[in-house]
Amino acid sequence: MHPNIAKILVTEEEIRDRVAVLGQEITNDYRGKKLLLVGILKGSAVFMADLMRQIDLDVQIDFMVVSSYSNSTQSQGHIQIRKDLSTDINGRDVLVVEDMIDSGTTLYYLNEILQVRGANSVEFVTLLNKPSRREKPVDVRYIGFDVPNEFVVGYGLDFAENYRNLPFVGVLKPECYES
Ligand code: IMP
Ligand code: MG
Repeated sequence: MHPNIAKILVTEEEIRDRVAVLGQEITNDYRGKKLLLVGILKGSAVFMADLMRQIDLDVQIDFMVVSSYSNSTQSQGHIQIRKDLSTDINGRDVLVVEDMIDSGTTLYYLNEILQVRGANSVEFVTLLNKPSRREKPVDVRYIGFDVPNEFVVGYGLDFAENYRNLPFVGVLKPECYES
């Protein structure tokens, strides 16, 4: 285990097993459809790479970079697209691949943006979910694991751009935040 990790929340093996199940469900649900996987960078990179190999269908992939922000003139957070899709999603069955749903803000606004582009369907799959933190209603079709309200890293998730390469999901030692 990494010296900065206090505890492991989801092991490498648990992730592997769950991703296989999610891939099977997606395979069954999207048979005959025009599935486009949209990974939200950077956090979904590891999950995307594993999940797509568990989907036994013809799929295409694309990526977006979005950031949520709020300022004093807005009472609600909105998102900014920093890298947009290179795929026309008109008529496509879009499955957005996320690392984590926390407040729900990112996916709430992303859903609005993708819906108006004429997708046939827009659904979400997230590896991790913090239900206790939800502020915006989001209908998430596939969830890997519910986690408690703790800041987690690993398997794509970062703290200050580090720890994305850890093969498990874990909680950092408190002293790692204080510097
Ligand atoms: P939301 O818009 O509040 O749902 O935030 C979702 C995004 O916040 C996720 O895609 C993550 O990138 C980030 N995030 C939320 N919680 C954590 C965490 O515990 N560790 C790392 N990133 C997190
Ligand atoms: Mg992130």
